[in-house]
Amino acid sequence: MESQEAAGELVAGAIRELITAKPDAVLGLATGSTPLPVYQALAKSFAADPIDVSRVRGFALDEYVGLPPGHPESYRAVITRDVVEPLGLTPENIHVPNGDPATIRTAGDDYERAIIAAGGVDIQILGIGRTGHLGFNEPGSSFGSTTRIKTLTEKTRADNARFFDSPDDVPMHCITQGLGTILRARHLVVLAFGESKADAIAAAVEGPMTASQPGSAIQLHPHVTVIVDAAAASKLANLAYYKHAWAHKAPWEGI
Ligand code: PGA
Repeated sequence: MESQEAAGELVAGAIRELITAKPDAVLGLATGSTPLPVYQALAKSFAADPIDVSRVRGFALDEYVGLPPGHPESYRAVITRDVVEPLGLTPENIHVPNGDPATIRTAGDDYERAIIAAGGVDIQILGIGRTGHLGFNEPGSSFGSTTRIKTLTEKTRADNARFFDSPDDVPMHCITQGLGTILRARHLVVLAFGESKADAIAAAVEGPMTASQPGSAIQLHPHVTVIVDAAAASKLANLAYYKHAWAHKAPWEGI
């Protein structure tokens, strides 16, 4: 896409269409900088032409372990600030894995059960880390993994240090939906912008499927949309074909 704004509008359009057809749709929500244009475009769309979103449900991908409740960089707080409030969603309908160390041993299974009880995720928004992670599934994560504790790589901790007062404040552990959990969502939308994501995108889309590149798990999914800018696309060997397919997209094809 030519801009992050255009990418945001494209995905927001698909989500709006989904909610219109299914008012209690289940959204898979990602944090980080990448999905922000989607949430901003959705907020704009709802403000200009409101639809009923009171029954929309949501599941975040991941959460840090051990941050005090209400910490502004906990993903519960980020999802509330970036998604629930600007979109006017019903807070009780939005789930985030529980990173409280006191209950962490059962939190993963509880989260899996909640996703299943909701009927599964209809559309899963995903960023990708420089390590190739989806959610916080760092290299070595099994393609069959479910929601569980992971130890963050130092690369990811350094990338996320910008949100904290000091790099040492970034938690060492997280609880994340597994790659197996993510693959059960009905539609995956992977977004990536900037040169720093080019290797991870090439590995995810065209590389061998390997747990060493968790993003490559998307190659197993029946419906994936990858949305990138020119910089993030710059290492794709088959780029000319993807552009050709996009240019000839039929009107009956969704994203
Ligand atoms: P970012 O993170 O959107 O902040 O670059 C993406 C990710 O780590 O999954």
